[in-house]
Amino acid sequence: MTPDSRWADVDTYVNGVVSANDEALSAAMQASEAAGLPAISVTPQQGKFLHTLARAIRSRTILEIGTLGGYSTIWLARAVAPGGLVTTIEADAKHADVARANIARAGVERLVDLRVGRAQDVLPQLESEGAGPFDFVFIDADKPSTTDYFNWALKLSRQGTLIFVDNVVRNGGLGDAATADADAQGMRRFTEALGRERRVTASVIQTVCSKGYDGFALALVNGEK
Ligand code: SAH
Ligand code: DHB
Ligand code: MG
Repeated sequence: MTPDSRWADVDTYVNGVVSANDEALSAAMQASEAAGLPAISVTPQQGKFLHTLARAIRSRTILEIGTLGGYSTIWLARAVAPGGLVTTIEADAKHADVARANIARAGVERLVDLRVGRAQDVLPQLESEGAGPFDFVFIDADKPSTTDYFNWALKLSRQGTLIFVDNVVRNGGLGDAATADADAQGMRRFTEALGRERRVTASVIQTVCSKGYDGFALALVNGEK
């Protein structure tokens, strides 16, 4: 679908009247762009939304898969209750370097444990270290691996954990059984697994924004895991 210019116009308008970015968050975006990182972080309003969700459930421990330049990480770190920690996993060492600087500039480095490595390798390490259960999980890395990450999130969760999965709709590819896009195919596999998963109450929400047409899934871990 061709992006509609209204989607970006509305984000620009809303960002002007419902403030989201402050200096540290703007600086993180600028430094990420200057370092040549892809412009795929959550938008300011989406970052604030994640922060609000995490705070609403009084998260103390948060797991993020896919750090990039740490923009979403800063929003999440600012949401944790006293004594809390965001554990964030990033495979790309250059992205992690940019994130470390952004996180430090935002003054939240003591609230963030940045693990550099592929999530497929780091998640088993976290489990063997006895990490979790996490209160909030944000899955936002390589899209074809999303189902694996969701299963890890369940393993590292408790009753009441919220799991937020970004980029589920992929420009409408989610609704196309014949899609050739590997990310959309991965999100179809994930959505079908989500629909079969009896341990969560879940929904999939479509979104538009300055970045285009996408969406997210939100899953609440039920009792009797
Ligand atoms: N959450 C960030 C955006 C993440 S973009 C934000 O909203 O600000 C996705 C990130 O996942 C990229 O930095 C990419 O390098 C990383 N990634 C890709 N494959 C990965 C893997 N297997 N394990 C961990 N991180 C991965
Ligand atoms: C892409 C990844 C993201 O995490 C996102 O929010 C938007 C786009 C991408 O890889 O295209
Ligand atoms: Mg994303």
